[in-house]
Amino acid sequence: MDRIRIRGGNTLNGTIPISGAKNATLPLMIASLLTDDTLTLENVPHLADVEQLIRILGNHGVDYAVSGKRLRHDPGSGRTIHFTARTIVDTTAPYELVSKMRASFWVIGPLLARMHKARVSLPGGCAIGTRPVDLFIDGLRALGATIDIDNGYVVAEAKGGLVGNRYVFPKVSVGATHVMMMAASLAKGETVIENAAREPEIVDLARCLNAMGARISGAGTPTLTIEGVEALSGARHRVLPDRIETGTYAMAVAMTGGDVTLEGTSVDLLQSALSALTTAGAAIEATPTGVRVMRNGGGIHPVDVITDPYPGFPTDLQAQFMALMTRSDGVAHITETIFENRFMHVQELARLGAKISLSGQVATIEGVTRLTGAPVMATDLRASVSLVIAGLVAEGDTMVSRVYHLDRGFERLEEKLGACGAEIERISS
Ligand code: UD1
Repeated sequence: MDRIRIRGGNTLNGTIPISGAKNATLPLMIASLLTDDTLTLENVPHLADVEQLIRILGNHGVDYAVSGKRLRHDPGSGRTIHFTARTIVDTTAPYELVSKMRASFWVIGPLLARMHKARVSLPGGCAIGTRPVDLFIDGLRALGATIDIDNGYVVAEAKGGLVGNRYVFPKVSVGATHVMMMAASLAKGETVIENAAREPEIVDLARCLNAMGARISGAGTPTLTIEGVEALSGARHRVLPDRIETGTYAMAVAMTGGDVTLEGTSVDLLQSALSALTTAGAAIEATPTGVRVMRNGGGIHPVDVITDPYPGFPTDLQAQFMALMTRSDGVAHITETIFENRFMHVQELARLGAKISLSGQVATIEGVTRLTGAPVMATDLRASVSLVIAGLVAEGDTMVSRVYHLDRGFERLEEKLGACGAEIERISS
């Protein structure tokens, strides 16, 4: 298993190209199940989760072809991939595949809408909490599906097709909003979804579905209106930039000090995280092509944050922000409201010398003047990158193991940081 070794102490200076968003790419790929035509996605990041979803979709009959320049030769441009689900050969998503990636459960929406049936394994627990699927089931039932749980599978059927309805989410869910948008696009009549997720990735999927012929309005607000259509066609769509990758590198620069331009992204995608960073002492500037992040001289100040659905502070940047706060000149509190048990990085950060105490959903971080390198272990995607951020300022060597978590969501992380002056290397074994 690969490991990443970091020798802390260098500031970051230069340019980092930001990739296409993983959390948009996955639902966009799944949307290819809705049509027998070709859906072409540009700016697809080179990530383990994308490769895994290609395999999962292949099981349902989705063919794919990669075109354009390979990423290695043209960093920052991403790949263009054509997905074609001419015939759906299987409406079952088996446990072996769904358990590897939770988002693959989302195939239930398009399969039900297009084939009027789906049998999809329950995803099971995962490292950051129980993550149930009740909202998906309630929402699809509101569109007329009958749903049973049978031997660990969600068995859904909609004889004669789904029918539009009004559905109010009792809790905001990104995944369930994606699924309801896809399902309702091929339902008969109008669907109104209240308390929908408002993440930029929701807006990106809505844009793509509309380019495929769907009639969705209100994406980015809590109320979505979807006028069902008979069939969807192919389309060409460019994946939006990854706001979590943007925020992660912004936090890395705030941590080390320096001056880095994040290319191909936008401040509009992550206002709340960038404003927390500004309060912490970083200077942020929108440039015509990206975001410039600087910290020169001044210290890191404590900032209290509470994770919330968009436009709130993203849970996917919580661990990274905590790493930054370990070096503040005071005491910061971080409250996690989205996922239970999303504090596994705390113990690992403590191995580097951080002082963090936990009480329920609140972490209290007492800033320290130095961190020291140590072997640490990645526990999930975002937690693992928080260890990299801490390692960038820790004295001596930090060795991060279980790097496959990082590879799920960060494209060539060590190359991007290395190009800006970090002493970081991947050790393959
Ligand atoms: C997506 C993101 C993930 C991010 C999360 C929250 C992708 C691929 N993943 O995950 O990176 O951390 O949004 O911003 O886009 N819930 C229920 N019942 C359900 C569904 C969800 O109770 O049926 C709960 C979850 O347990 C969690 C909360 O709702 O507590 C939010 O989860 P959700 O927004 O659904 O997260 P994901 O879509 O899985």
